[in-house]
Amino acid sequence: MTHFPIQDFSKLSTPFYYYDIDCLLKTLQVIEDETKGRPNFHVHYAVKANANPRILQIIAQYGLGADCVSGGEILAASEAGFVGNKIVYAGVGKSDWEIRTALEKGIHSFNVESLPELDVINQIAGEMGKCAHVAFRINPNVDAHTHAKITTGLNENKFGIAMEDMVTAIRHAQELGNVKYTGLHFHIGSQILDLSVYVSLCNRINELQNILESEGIVTDNINVGGGLGIDYDNPDGNPIPDFKQYFELFEKHLQLRNGQQLHFELGRSVVA
Ligand SMILES: Cc1ncc(COP(=O)(O)O)c(C=O)c1O
Repeated sequence: MTHFPIQDFSKLSTPFYYYDIDCLLKTLQVIEDETKGRPNFHVHYAVKANANPRILQIIAQYGLGADCVSGGEILAASEAGFVGNKIVYAGVGKSDWEIRTALEKGIHSFNVESLPELDVINQIAGEMGKCAHVAFRINPNVDAHTHAKITTGLNENKFGIAMEDMVTAIRHAQELGNVKYTGLHFHIGSQILDLSVYVSLCNRINELQNILESEGIVTDNINVGGGLGIDYDNPDGNPIPDFKQYFELFEKHLQLRNGQQLHFELGRSVVA
């Protein structure tokens, strides 16, 4: 049970931010407890949810990876102690210096949103004598049953590559010399409280994996994004989301192939 010490706040000048580190530590402990028996599950903290350096340090110390959407976030995560190969980098408008920074830090993978972006990453990686690991963000056309403005996985949303273009995109990556296709990425929305939408996401990923298999394409990583919601109506009574149910759902419904690694990008559910 978390309580805000309102009596102490009256001594502070406004505005200020109040962070409940104890609540954060308890949340991180639950995430650790729920994933430690599942060595192929990897949680990346979505830095956009809160990039305060001390918060980042605490999360990094718990061994989580980071999900970044800018060069600045990659630098902040790195500074806070997140190791490069646990950083994933998404974003619809990656600039050249941001791509270079990601490559310098040796990130785990780029979540790529379009073929022109892939070509730019390939070119910059080539100039740096590196090979960039890339996952394609696929728009799965799954309704997250959340607010329209934070719904990101429907056909009409701007994000990701259409499912029917998935194989073409992967084949294109396989032809390029400085990128390596390593996985698929999805993110259907935020503040998701109806967990059944994740079952729909798993079913869609299973279908897509069947297509990839029939094409002889090997996929090392599946990244299901973030989105797990929190209880804004009763934050004191229910401060930590139901991670147990969340992770169990993926274990039950997602048909991972041998050796496949499953990645999550959780933001709000970790810190909000
Ligand atoms: C690609 C991607 N991954 C992860 C997240 C984190 O979402 P959440 O904070 O709802 O877990 C977002 C949020 O916008 C996102 O766009």
